[in-house]
Amino acid sequence: MTADAAELLALAEKTAREAGDLVRDRREAVERMAVAGTKSTPTDVVTESDTAAEALIRTRLFAARPDDGFLGEEDGSVAGTTGVDWVVDPIDGTVNYLYGLPQYAVSIAAQVDGVVRAGVVHNPASGETWTAVLGGGAWLDGRPVRVSACSSLSLALVGTGFGYDAGRRARQAAVLLEVVPAVRDIRRAGAAALDLCAVASGRLDAYYERGLNPWDLAAGGLIAAEAGAVVSGLRGAPAGNDLALAATPGVAGELTALLERLGADRD
Ligand code: IPD
Ligand code: CA
Repeated sequence: MTADAAELLALAEKTAREAGDLVRDRREAVERMAVAGTKSTPTDVVTESDTAAEALIRTRLFAARPDDGFLGEEDGSVAGTTGVDWVVDPIDGTVNYLYGLPQYAVSIAAQVDGVVRAGVVHNPASGETWTAVLGGGAWLDGRPVRVSACSSLSLALVGTGFGYDAGRRARQAAVLLEVVPAVRDIRRAGAAALDLCAVASGRLDAYYERGLNPWDLAAGGLIAAEAGAVVSGLRGAPAGNDLALAATPGVAGELTALLERLGADRD
């Protein structure tokens, strides 16, 4: 099956909205919602909604494109034969979701031959939907978005996040101790995909985090880059598990240099 980025995006967006409706509706019955299991540590909560949303997304994508590959946060991966791989986080911001905070999202990206070509991040609580196709700009609810014009790290509002492992968190906190005095302020909103979209929309000037997984980064990273952000890792690496940074160009150099000096890509 041929893969046109706009068609992949349309399928991703329709599916993300349907999954978003499912998780939002289930959230309204959260008191009855049982915790289905745990991931790496007890604070990493996997709710039944994660599992149900990923199953729905899988079903819809495979119904439309049965031979594609799939990588989801909850249920592992399936190899495909078309060169298209779907990279899916059914609920990014699981802890926010659990606590009834409105910063969570469904994130779906389409990778073609290993390159992210289309992505959608949908926040069912706010109704906001960011989309992008490679080379086609980034959009929020159909309107183009652009990164901020901030040109100094000292004036930058910087988002970050923490992993679930206590040792990793202690190291992230030590880095943050040095970042806080160098910036306007810090935000920890609790959903990496939405943090990346916040950079795309100029709601943050920059965002960085160590330990992201492909499903946290794939759609939001494309959206941030298409909105004009520098999206990268440290020491010339691409954005990835070691470190992912998304920043408006006027801030990216200074933030990269600071994070490299602090060894933010190492435990
Ligand atoms: C997490 C969130 C959080 C980030 C973590 C992610 P999840 O994803 O994006 O903001 O700090 O690194 O694992 O577990 O809510 O899907
Ligand atoms: Ca996630």
